[in-house]
Amino acid sequence: MCILTYLKMMNLFFTKNTLELDTYLATKKCVIIADARTNGFCVPVAKKILPALQQAQLIVIPAGEENKNLDTVHFIWEQLCLLQIKKNSLIINIGGGCLSDIASFAASTYKRGLEFINIPTTLLSMVDASIGGKNGINFNGIKNCIGLIIPAKKVYINPIFINSLPEREIKSGIVEMVKHSLLSSQSDWQKALHNNHIQQWCNMDNITIASQFKNSIVLQDELDEGIRQSLNLGHSIGHAIESYSHESKNVLLHGEAIYYGIWIELLLSRIIYNLDTTIINQFKHLGEEVLGYRKIAIELKNLLPYLLADKKNSDTINMSLIAAPGQLKIKTTVSVEQVQIALEEYGNN
Ligand SMILES: NC(=O)c1ccc[n+]([C@@H]2O[C@H](COP(=O)([O-])OP(=O)(O)OC[C@H]3O[C@@H](n4cnc5c(N)ncnc54)[C@H](O)[C@@H]3O)[C@@H](O)[C@H]2O)c1
Repeated sequence: MCILTYLKMMNLFFTKNTLELDTYLATKKCVIIADARTNGFCVPVAKKILPALQQAQLIVIPAGEENKNLDTVHFIWEQLCLLQIKKNSLIINIGGGCLSDIASFAASTYKRGLEFINIPTTLLSMVDASIGGKNGINFNGIKNCIGLIIPAKKVYINPIFINSLPEREIKSGIVEMVKHSLLSSQSDWQKALHNNHIQQWCNMDNITIASQFKNSIVLQDELDEGIRQSLNLGHSIGHAIESYSHESKNVLLHGEAIYYGIWIELLLSRIIYNLDTTIINQFKHLGEEVLGYRKIAIELKNLLPYLLADKKNSDTINMSLIAAPGQLKIKTTVSVEQVQIALEEYGNN
């Protein structure tokens, strides 16, 4: 590993680095941004384990994907102005992926960019959203339509925050860990299949492996021009499912939508790259038996407007698929007919 990569890896702080982080925070003028739920559940815990945060100022935004929009960013900018926050302040994002996506976007654009630290409080954010610097908001009905890639100064991962996280949110995070195992290697995929209980996925070792995996991919391709796109496995279809679910009564969490997205993209991986059917069956088994997910109806006509508008695509649908666990196939052009065939197979399975 080269020295630059090593130093960047050091930006991930874990429970064992708590004192080191607190010492660093004590030298800064900190502003916490939390959402209404994490302000109640997580900010008091963060202040207890990182006493340097006790003096921090606080901005609270509404929770939830429906608030991942320009109004919330506008509110944060207003609060930063009201608090007279200067360029040398440090923003501390305490929350899940939604909070860090919005708050890092607001921080990165205020006064041409404030430094920020992510303290992820959902499993999904610990292993994925808080790492890699992608931020932004939904706009014009399109997920993550507006945003930047600006890495956090540091990311502090401490599973203590999961204690107050609802089980549905924990499962949503596990889906991204499952995706990491599929992308990593055949042996990591086989190891993942041994995690038969939700609690096994949430242990410090598994969270560390998954967050370091994400970090290692990001460090090879920070600007998302090559290998980083492999992390989009399940996300082309998954984002369309998630966006459509927000139009219907049955709103899905991010990880839930990505679960169905991965399933359908694994079917496309079989159609295009001959992915072994065993892998698809193992994935389904994990979803059904460990996460308790059940099949939902998915229709092409509902996905198509989102698939064709997705920022990752031009006039064709570009996807990141796999030929086998660890064999990544980014920038695959997929036809609408192939999506239709995969959806039929999904329906019949
Ligand atoms: N930037 C990236 O690279 C990236 C990657 C993956 C996902 N994302 C984004 O992340 C978002 C999903 O993030 P998420 O799943 O973390 O959801 P979230 O941030 O919406 O949090 C889910 C809910 O849990 C609450 N919550 C958070 N931590 C809690 C805790 N410890 N105890 C109790 N309640 C808690 C939140 O207030 C919220 O109501 C999506 O918008 C997705 O697009 C971004």
